[in-house]
Amino acid sequence: MSDMDLVRIGKADDLQEGEIRRVSVPGYEPLALCRSGGRLHLFADMCSHGMASLSEGEVADGQVFCPFHGGGFDVATGMPTERPCTIPINVYALVERDGDVLVAGKM
Ligand code: FES
Repeated sequence: MSDMDLVRIGKADDLQEGEIRRVSVPGYEPLALCRSGGRLHLFADMCSHGMASLSEGEVADGQVFCPFHGGGFDVATGMPTERPCTIPINVYALVERDGDVLVAGKM
């Protein structure tokens, strides 16, 4: 992957543990960036169960919980962890460089 493929999405220290925010990146679906377990994670903002924005949900124990019906996903893998969610969400690779966070594409 060349540096041309990396898109800066913010500063690494902007997010505290358990925080989540929506991120818009040209050419990508709406994304959600969170910090969990000390690490940043980037994944689809849209819940796979309905039209809910996961960035309006809660992050805890390595999972993001949907604000609509409380379904959950693993923030690192996108796999569903709590019903009613059964379909994985996309997760994206991140690079941290000189304090910046860059998205490096879908995992
Ligand atoms: S819309 Fe997310 S759990 Fe139902």
